[in-house]
Formats: sequence, structure tokens, C-alpha cells
Amino acid sequence: MASNWTPESWQSREARHLPVYPDAAALGKVTDTLTTFPPLVFAGEARALKADLAQVAAGKGFLLQGGDCAESFAEFHPNNIRDTFRVLLQMAVVLTFASKQPVIKVGRLAGQFAKPRSSPVEVIDGVELPSYLGDNINGIEFTPEARIPNPQRLLQAYSQSAATLNLVRAFSTGGYANLRQVHQWTLDFMGRSPWAEKFAEVSTRIGEALDFMEACGIDPRTVPQLQGTSFYTSHEALHLPYEQAMTRQDSLTGDWYDTSAHMLWIGDRTRFEGSAHVEYLRGVGNPIGFKCGPSLAPDELLRQLDVLNPGREAGRITLISRFGDDKVEAGLAPLVRAVKREGHPVVWSCDPMHGNVIKANSGYKTRPFDRILNEVRGFFAVHRAEGTHAGGIHIEMTGQDVTECVGGAVAISSETLADRYHTHCDPRLNAAQSLELAFLLADMLNAEAGERAQRAA
Ligand code: PEP
Ligand code: CO
Repeated sequence: MASNWTPESWQSREARHLPVYPDAAALGKVTDTLTTFPPLVFAGEARALKADLAQVAAGKGFLLQGGDCAESFAEFHPNNIRDTFRVLLQMAVVLTFASKQPVIKVGRLAGQFAKPRSSPVEVIDGVELPSYLGDNINGIEFTPEARIPNPQRLLQAYSQSAATLNLVRAFSTGGYANLRQVHQWTLDFMGRSPWAEKFAEVSTRIGEALDFMEACGIDPRTVPQLQGTSFYTSHEALHLPYEQAMTRQDSLTGDWYDTSAHMLWIGDRTRFEGSAHVEYLRGVGNPIGFKCGPSLAPDELLRQLDVLNPGREAGRITLISRFGDDKVEAGLAPLVRAVKREGHPVVWSCDPMHGNVIKANSGYKTRPFDRILNEVRGFFAVHRAEGTHAGGIHIEMTGQDVTECVGGAVAISSETLADRYHTHCDPRLNAAQSLELAFLLADMLNAEAGERAQRAA
């Protein structure tokens, strides 16, 4: 257990990006209530994810983490949850086939509400208001009333998270995640897309593999693993009063866990040395993500790893790089080298979203698909050169047919962004772009698998 740590020890550290509530007593009442609510996840599940991630850290698996930039109360609907879950499963099947390794599925959902913002204020037509901070804090409507932080929103976020997690659990184990079915969706989906031909070979081979397995008597009726899947949840542990209220001592081990999600991550803006967010997360037993951006020096990263994982437990830390496609090769290599030299067991994952935001002529924030893909390529290139494992991908995506990122085979142009731009924060890949990315990633994973097989021979 971490020394000199309590669930509230973060309060004496510097906390950035936390909302200031006009009525502190009202926040206290809400967090008191939350401490009496059931945990959303069980510590044993967080440990199971950590064990899965330990395999990835050892080069024996791949992490697929994705979902909304920010969940919202307005987009809360079973169909949205279903569609995002489905696309993640479809991606996972393609990636499993290509990498010949287990793919660990972690949703950015069931709790991904609070957002760090680049500016504390927003100005529209000369009117200045506090920025929108996420639906669990204030409202996105551009009015002075909506932008006041309201602690009651935390209760709604808890309830939405519980309901989302419940549906995802039901889908994972109730038969919806049947492998044959997931592949059939991919075929149906590609049948309607203009880029189907490009990826027909991979999808045909997956179908043949399933046929072969079935002929050998390995099918969802006989093998329960093909009927269901493990699916975990994650979000940025930004709102520390909420995370503290969800912190519980595990009755089996006596260790503390943040029971708001299986995995929590620290954002690029709150990962600085001595931060309240690092202090909070060092004491909980969950697997932890740590965003690595261009301003992170290798020796600082090493010191932070010593703080967050002094016991060097494999699976505990996932380093999520987010440099931008033009900076990833130069920026990531020194970090990878330092971590390797010191022998820290980590999962390296690539967030190709947050370093690649641009403003389109139309004024919309967007991300070009080419840049996203380029950052992933750079990430793989660095790991190939350093002899380390490109262990995962972290993306902002949705199962909906939105128009938020430009490019992709079903080219979305900056003129069409306005058609279906629904995100409450950053632009997300839509269903087609997400699946396309999975197929393109498959080529890179395939190459890695080939090299692995050669080394083993
Ligand atoms: C995010 O993941 O939504 C985010 C804000 O990322 P970062 O901290 O890397 O900017
Ligand atoms: Co984002």
C-alpha cells in the first residue's frame, strides 16, 4: 500500500482543472451521498484488467481503448451505447486476427464526463462566459446560468455511468458479443461502404477462420469464450472530489480502489510533478494510464513512474503518448529508451487524437484522418526501432455516423463537418472511420506478428 496516502491526501497538493463550486457545502452533501452509493466496479475486476495489461506489457497482447471525448446527458441513449460497443468489438476482432494476440477492450465510457479546457473562459460574439467543463459539472448551453458548476450533476453522472455499465456488462456476457455475429456486422457494414474492396481480403480470411473453427467443433454454441467477451471501463480521473467519494477499501485485500471505473488515467495537463491528480492515483490499486505529451522530459517520466509504481508491478501503468503526427518520432523515442533502460514494465499505447486537432475553415475543431493514421505509423516505427512493443491504441470515437473528423475512405470534407457535428468536446472518429483505422492498424500489427514469429523461429 502507498505510504502516507489517504483518499483525501490529494487535497494538500496543487490541483489544476478542478471546478470551483459557488456552494462548497452543497458539493460536500453530494459527495457524502456518493460515498454511500454502491461501487460501480469491483476491485477484483480492476485486478483482472491489470493482469491482462501485464500480458500486454510483456508483448503478449494489444490494448484497444476508445469512446467519447466527453459523454453527455443529451446523447445518453441505449442505441448510442450499443453502437459504440459494437464498433469496439468489430475493431477488436480485426485487431485480434491481425496481431494473433488477445485484444484487451477498454471503453472510454460509463464515467468519461469531466474535461480539462485550454481556456477557463469562452468568448462568443464578444460575450465571455466560463468554459463548459463536462456534463457532470456544468451545462454546454452558452448562458451564465448553465455555466455555473452544479454538484447535483455528479449524481446524474453516477446514475448514467451505472446504467451504461450495466448495459455494457449485459452485452458482453449476454450473447450480444458472439464472435460470429460481430464479424457478420462487419460484413454487412462493409457491404454498404465504398471502401469495402480494400479490406475484403482480411474480412474474408476472418470468415474462413471462423468456418474452419466451426468445422472443428469450435463455435459459440460449444465454446463460451466465443459467445461473450471481457469489456472494461475507463475515464480521466479529473474530478477528484467525485473520485475520492468513489474510493473504497477492498474487503479481500485491504487495498484502496477507485471504484468509479476499472482503469483511470491522468491527463497531460494534470500529470505534472507534485500534482493532486498524481497524488490521488498513486494510492489506488487500479491500472493507471498516464498521458505523455511533448512537454514531458524522460527523467521526469521516470520520477513519476517511481511515484506511481514504486513496486514496478506489470500492468499497473499504461503510458499513452499523444504528440501530434509531426512530433511523435522525435518525441516518443527518448521516452521509450529511458523507460526501457530503467526496466519499468509498462504498456505503450498511442493516442493519435489529442496532438492532431486543427480548426477547419468552417470554424469547427477537427482532426484529419491522415494525421491520425500518420501518428499511429510513427508510434509503430519508434517501437520497431527501439525493440519495444507497440501495445495499444487510445481513440475518441463513436458508433454514430457523425461528421467530426475529416478524411477517411468515406471522405468527410471540412465543408460537410456541419452536417452531423455532435461532440460535446473533441471531434470523434465515426463508425466507418474507426473500422477503417482498425483495418489499417491490422497491417501494422501483422508486420509486428511476422517479425515476432521470425525471431521465435
Ligand atoms: C482526453 O483524453 O480527452 C484529453 C484531454 O487528453 P490529454 O490529457 O492527452 O490532452
Ligand atoms: Co478529448
